[in-house]
Amino acid sequence: MYIDTHCHILKEYYENIDDIIDECTKNNVGRIIVSGCDMKTNKEVLELISKYDIVYGTIGFHPTELDEYDDNDLKFLEEHIFDRKIVGIGEIGLDYHYDDTDKEKQKSVFRKQLDIAKKYNKPIVIHTRNSIQDTYDILKEYDLKGSIHCFSGSLEMAKEYIKLGYKIGVGGIVTYKNAKNIKEVVKNIDMTYILLETDSPYLSPEPYRGKVNEPNNIPLVAEVISNLKGLDLQEVMRTSTANAEAIFDFLDK
Ligand code: NI
Repeated sequence: MYIDTHCHILKEYYENIDDIIDECTKNNVGRIIVSGCDMKTNKEVLELISKYDIVYGTIGFHPTELDEYDDNDLKFLEEHIFDRKIVGIGEIGLDYHYDDTDKEKQKSVFRKQLDIAKKYNKPIVIHTRNSIQDTYDILKEYDLKGSIHCFSGSLEMAKEYIKLGYKIGVGGIVTYKNAKNIKEVVKNIDMTYILLETDSPYLSPEPYRGKVNEPNNIPLVAEVISNLKGLDLQEVMRTSTANAEAIFDFLDK
């Protein structure tokens, strides 16, 4: 069984979520983690996890989705962090891609959510874009575990995050011909540090690049990792699933 450790299977992207879930089951994708990014999608995550057996959730406030955010919203995290099938806090982090970014606000909201993760000892799903050093510096202050989702840094940086206790989220980008960085990272870190993810609806793997992504594309990501590392596909599946289970507590849920 595969686990998609990061996706956004939400109404705004998919007409029929029942079909998406059916396809997962047919393709041996036995669990998926849907991450919320703002109040609206966090609430949708709660609906999805109660409706579909294979769906687990994380809730959090994404660095580029803070326009409507208010510190009172953090109460929502505290209220639902122990809900059945909520396996962590995310998607949270830093994103300096846009010029009008309020970096200080992002850092402050990020830290507040890390404080909650620490308080309740929960894993986190990290988003970092054009901000990999700042994200690292903040995470270094905390003793947490989780996924560096859609990792886009250097091999050296991957090793530093691994030292802190994080695993490296690898998705569709690794299947792109010109994605030298992530291919190098995947080749040179041990399989025990790799998590599979799709980030659906974004970043479809080859041969579906540019199309709407779905969690049932996870085996395509696994295949490329298997080739890059010279590992049996079954081993990639088994190890990545064990890695996800080591971070996120699916049992007893
Ligand atoms: Ni995402």
